[in-house]
Amino acid sequence: MVWSVRYMALVAVALTPATQAFAVDGNADAGKKVFLKCGVCHGIGDTKKPVGPNLNNVVGRTAGTQAEFLAKGSSGYSAAMIEAGKGGLVWTEENIAKWVSDPKKMIPKTKMAFPGLKKDQEIADVIAYIKTFSTQQ
Ligand code: HEC
Repeated sequence: MVWSVRYMALVAVALTPATQAFAVDGNADAGKKVFLKCGVCHGIGDTKKPVGPNLNNVVGRTAGTQAEFLAKGSSGYSAAMIEAGKGGLVWTEENIAKWVSDPKKMIPKTKMAFPGLKKDQEIADVIAYIKTFSTQQ
């Protein structure tokens, strides 16, 4: 009996992810497919897209600071996004999750014309994919 209790405890520890940012675990392969929705506007890896800021190394980056997009001036970031960055918004995994679930709820005057991902699994998967292009993981 003692052993089985110990065994159960070990199983419970093994099943608990080190960081529990999300209720569900993300899968980068599945996230690649979800990213097709984002990739219309955002470059990542070697792809380049002009509509949105490049998302290489976005995890850990201050909002509104991607150099090429910033260089576009008023045709790049919205004033609201730059303000959010100055106010201290950093793209942690938690903040990206909040952002992609409903961009206009987080930053009402954003230029990102995207209604949001509704499923927690899709959000976790797309973040797992984006993370593979960020050095800060
Ligand atoms: C219709 C084009 C479009 C789509 C689709 C889109 N985005 Fe964006 N995204 C933008 C634009 C434009 C901005 C800049 C917003 C601003 O400045 O207000 C942005 C900003 C961002 C930022 C902040 C980056 C920074 O440098 O501060 C993140 C993170 C982001 N998008 C992630 C995503 C993800 C993940 C998806 C897919 C689930 C997605 N976006 C879908 C256009 C888009």
